[in-house]
Order: sequence, then C-alpha cells, then structure tokens
Amino acid sequence: MAANPALTDPALERFDMYIDGEFVAPSSGEYFESFDPYTARPWALIARGNADDAQRAVEAAHRAFNDPAWRSMHPSERGALLRRLAELVRENADRLAELEVQDNGKLLSEMAAQLRYVPSIYHYYAGLADKIEGAVVPSDKPAFTFTRHEALGVCVGIIPWNSPLMLTAWKLAPALAAGNTMVLKPSEYTSASALEFIKLIERAGFPKGVVNVVTGFGPEAGQPLVEHPMVRKVAFTGSSATGAHLYSIAARDIKRVSLELGGKSPNIVFDDARLDNAVKGAVAGIFAATGQTCIAGSRLLVQRSIHNEFVDRLVSFAKTAKMGNPMQLETQVGPVTNLPQFEKVLGYIDIAKEEGVETVLGGTRAERPECGDGWFVEPTIFTGVRNDMRIAQEEVFGPVLSIIPFDDDEEAVAIGNDVVFGLAAGVWTENTRRAIMMSERLQAGTVWVNTYRAVSYAMPFGGYKRSGLGRELGQQAILEYMQTKSVWISTAEEMANPFVIG
Ligand code: NAI
Ligand code: MG
Repeated sequence: MAANPALTDPALERFDMYIDGEFVAPSSGEYFESFDPYTARPWALIARGNADDAQRAVEAAHRAFNDPAWRSMHPSERGALLRRLAELVRENADRLAELEVQDNGKLLSEMAAQLRYVPSIYHYYAGLADKIEGAVVPSDKPAFTFTRHEALGVCVGIIPWNSPLMLTAWKLAPALAAGNTMVLKPSEYTSASALEFIKLIERAGFPKGVVNVVTGFGPEAGQPLVEHPMVRKVAFTGSSATGAHLYSIAARDIKRVSLELGGKSPNIVFDDARLDNAVKGAVAGIFAATGQTCIAGSRLLVQRSIHNEFVDRLVSFAKTAKMGNPMQLETQVGPVTNLPQFEKVLGYIDIAKEEGVETVLGGTRAERPECGDGWFVEPTIFTGVRNDMRIAQEEVFGPVLSIIPFDDDEEAVAIGNDVVFGLAAGVWTENTRRAIMMSERLQAGTVWVNTYRAVSYAMPFGGYKRSGLGRELGQQAILEYMQTKSVWISTAEEMANPFVIG
C-alpha cells in the first residue's frame, strides 16, 4: 500500500518513473512498498504516479511521435534499434529475471527462461519493421490506387504482474517496429523490472520520449493514461473486470484496444493418450507458475474409463512437487504473488468445498518449513467437480485444479466450450483424426495437442469470447499497431461530372 517515504525503511531501494528520457520523482512525492512474496516483506519503494505524471508521459510520447528523429527514421533503422535492444536484454537476462522473481515470486528457472526468450521477440519484430508493405490495388476507376500501413501514434501498454517483461515485449516490440511511441504502466506489484529495462531502451539509442514508464496504482496512474485524448491505442493484459472497464473508457474517443484477459481453459485427456505425458501436461497446466497464468489448464477433463487411474497417477506425481524459495533452481512451486491473490485463492478453495467437491490433494495454505512466512498455497486437486460450479466457471489464478469426467468426444467439446472464456485448450490423444476434430471444435485462441503452455513469438496469441480482443505475437500483431491509408491518384485526363461521384 501507499507509504510515506519518511515512514518506510530507508534501506529499501527506490525506483523513480521514466518520462521523456529521464528518471523523475512522482509529482505526488509519494512512494509505495513493493513486496517479496517469498518473505512477505517489502523490498523496494516505487514512485506513486498520478494523473499529472500520466499527462507528462503522454505529452512526451506525443512529442516524440511527431519529432523527425523518430517519425522520419527509416523502418530499417528502427529494426536496428530493436536488435540492439534485444542484445542488451540478452546480456542482462539473468539479472532482470532475479529482479522479477524478487517481486512476483515466480520460479527463477521460469523467469530466467522467459528473459532469455524475450530477445527473440524483439528480433522477430525488428525483422518485420521494414517488411510492412502496402499493396497496389487494381482499381475499377481511372486511378492508380495503393495502400500504406501507418503507425497509430501514442500507445499505452498496461502490464500485469505474472510475466512483466515478457508481456511488455509482446506489446512494445510490435508497437515500436510499427513506428509508434509508448507509455508503459507496469503492475503496482512488479514495477521494478520495467525501470531497469528502460535503461536498456536508453542504451540502445531510442530517442527520448519514445518509451516512457509511469508507475503506480491502476485507477490513479493507469486510468488517466487510458483516458488521455492523445492516446490512440491501449494494449492491456490483466483481469476481465479491469479489461472491460478500460474498453468502455477507450470507447469514448474511439481508441484502438487489444485485450488479453482471463481464462478457464479445458485440458482434455482421452483414454488413448500417452498418460505419462498427459500427467506432465496437467501439471504444466496448473502448477507451473503456481497456476498464475491466463492460460492455466484449470479444468482437467478426463475420459471416464481412465478417470480413477489418471487421478491416482496425477496426485502421486503432484505430491512430489518441491515448494519453497523461488530463487532456488530445484524449487518447482513458488508462492502466490501478493496478499490479495493469496486470499482470493484460499477463498475459492472454500467455495469449492462448500459446493461439495472432493479434495484429493492440498486444499490449504502451505505450512511447510521451506515456505517460511511466504504466501504459499498447497497444490490443490478437486474431483467430483461439475462444470456449472463456480470453481469450474471462474478464474482462480492459483494452483487449484478441478477434474471433471466425460464419456465421449461430443461431451468433451460441450463441457470444454461451456464457459464464458476461450483463451486456450489442451487435448491429449494419439488419434490424429480426433486431434484435428477437437482443434476445430474447441472455442479457444490456442489449442495445444499433446503439449501445454507452449508459446512462440511467431504464433498469434489471444482469446475467443470473453478472453480478449485482438492478437499479440506473430505477423498480424503488428497490424494491431497500425492503420491503413488508401491513396488515390487519378489517371483521368479530365475530371468527370462533379455532381455525380461514382
Ligand atoms: P488488474 O487487471 O486489476 O491489473 C492489471 C493491470 O491493470 C495493472 O497494471 C493494474 O495497475 C492496471 N489497472 C488496474 N485498474 C486499472 C484502471 N482502472 N485503469 C488503468 N489500469 C488499471 O489485475 P490484478 O488486480 O493484478 O489481479 C486480479 C486478477 O486478475 C487475478 O486474480 C487474475 O485472475 C487476473 N489477472 C490476469 C492476468 C492475465 O495474464 N490475463 C494477469 C494478472 C491478473
Ligand atoms: Mg512485489
């Protein structure tokens, strides 16, 4: 929560915002504490931004957008800057990963792998920067007609706490490749890494104002960014409630929006699957990242003929998961990122128990000595779940798995699609025809067959139904940050009847 610097531990590291090429103190003069989820203690102070800071950042980004230093830069040169940035991230990947772990408690092994992958995202869009081609269109009128794709202007990126710098890259890389400028608003729970990352933006040589970072709480520091009339696009990842709220604000002045929201993804195991792999896939779906991912396979649909055997195998495998300090490479399940999240997860466990599920693993706060005072929840597995229960319909965002039996393909599809979300789905089968049919019929932006949680810079990512709007990653994402202009050059000798345009 917000804290007066005079009252907080002066030993805590302090992070200022970054606006118009400079680190600046917040206009409020206030800082708030950021916590380490493993110790449940504050470790850093973050600038508490407000509407004034948001205003300054948007104005800086707007000036930068109109400055020839950026606006007239050839796309190949923008690509070269992005490549330089990629290499700087690569050199600093391990340090940035440690910073993220300190703030969000995810495993160092996972965050280091993510940060070592982030350079590939910048390289991919660096390569695209000078390959965004319009088309000469054969016209039915006497005219030479062609299209151009142009940048939008100032974009705002609102980032959650679960994978801060990776989700930043998903937005920033295409936005910059397309020639936009950006204001980033990291989560109030994990702001530090963005402020280390911005130093690399500076070192790569981006002109001042092209990328800015405003920190603070969502309604205070984030919302004024979304409301600002100079902003042309909002790219958001986070909760469905906040996403819908920001969508309605952006609608007031017709801003572009892309939203990457919640999920309740079905992970479907058929009796012809390789069960050893499917067990690992179920674990990857819900216990990796302590279940704190939008693509969590939080509903495990298991064919009835193998249900009991599969549950036994899954429980005995999940039981061996090592919990504890996320900085240690052998740890497999870390803490939950913040106190509200910890309370939310335990709250859903209570709801499920009241709904009458059977707890076959966990179901409590983790009291193991290796978990100390951290916000740990035992890996939890429920059986006897019906798909109409709240535990099967609502996003928990924690290590809580609901197992639902099914009889045949028809029923698997019906249960799989019977949620408001549609972010991802997993299918475990050795039958090719079944794999193809399931991939066609499941309403989800990503369908994985015999794998789970695989993501690539080259593959579009986004949601069906209430899981989101627009796509990140892949070639099409760059067009989410561009607008198309149609240019007409008449080839007619004489202007036709001016009263009748055909
Ligand atoms: P949130 O959606 O409120 O926060 C995400 C980002 O939006 C943060 O940067 C926050 O400061 C910002 N924000 C919040 N209110 C805002 C406003 N009025 N205007 C502008 N920006 C605003 O999510 P939160 O509170 O961190 O987590 C709550 C739940 O959201 C989780 O339990 C989980 O279910 C879901 N979530 C989903 C994520 C995903 O990857 N899709 C990531 C993080 C959370
Ligand atoms: Mg933190």
